[in-house]
Amino acid sequence: MARRDSREAMTIFRGAEALEALTLKAESPKSGPCGRRGQGVILSRPPAGQGPPEQEEKPIAMNGKPDDQRPELPDFWDKRFNEGVTPWNAGGVPAALAAYAARRDDRPRVLVPGCGHAWEAGWLARRGWEVTALDFSAAAVAAARQTLGDWPGELVCADFFDYAPAHPFDLIYERAFLCALPRKLWAGYGRRMHALLAPGGALAGFFLFGDEPKGPPFAIAPEALEALLAPWFVREEDQPVSDSLPVFAGRERWQVWRRLS
Ligand SMILES: C[S@@+](CC[C@H](N)C(=O)[O-])C[C@H]1O[C@@H](n2cnc3c(N)ncnc32)[C@H](O)[C@@H]1O
Repeated sequence: MARRDSREAMTIFRGAEALEALTLKAESPKSGPCGRRGQGVILSRPPAGQGPPEQEEKPIAMNGKPDDQRPELPDFWDKRFNEGVTPWNAGGVPAALAAYAARRDDRPRVLVPGCGHAWEAGWLARRGWEVTALDFSAAAVAAARQTLGDWPGELVCADFFDYAPAHPFDLIYERAFLCALPRKLWAGYGRRMHALLAPGGALAGFFLFGDEPKGPPFAIAPEALEALLAPWFVREEDQPVSDSLPVFAGRERWQVWRRLS
């Protein structure tokens, strides 16, 4: 994602202008602990002598939207976590996950991408499962740290599309992650999930269905999810969900997809 934006910046800017934009971006003091690489932004600056000198330069995206209005960037999520506007936060563990965990008698190595407050990650770790919770928003990671406290799992601040774990996972838990991704990023979702899982591993969790064009949350049509995952997975479970939060009510289903080969 970030790499694609970087290439876009290279193409659109030319010569010294491009170099200046990319250099300023690389030196931006806003780079967080998760790192912000190649986002294709330019920095707007007031003309010399105008504007308060202490005013922070505001990054403006190539498409004209500020970074904190672009859900493909951590800034979007940082803003919402920092302002406490997190209507997806369940504050606990959904019933379908608890039931699924009870059905498993092993202790899988689990990845929770886009973990947010990480309630489920903490709960699964307390069951003795080996859990890695991952998020690219520094504010989300701070919230997760608060939820998790001193826990036995691993909390990673990284972009899902760049993350390179030492070992593949047995299980990836999905909740409100696919629907947080702008649709232009969906094409890479199935391939990444497949690559992060060991053979025979499973992608399990909640998928948000619908056809509303705007998001987040970006709902998906059933046939579109099938098209995303069928090349790499076969669906094993598909159930309605009864304890959805209002923001997802009536639109989410619990599904388990088994990794092919
Ligand atoms: C709607 S929130 C859901 C959080 C959590 N899964 C939950 O159910 O409460 C989406 C989360 O995904 C994270 N996220 C979005 N894109 C990401 C990416 N490319 N890599 C890692 N995290 C990402 C956001 O920072 C945010 O914390």
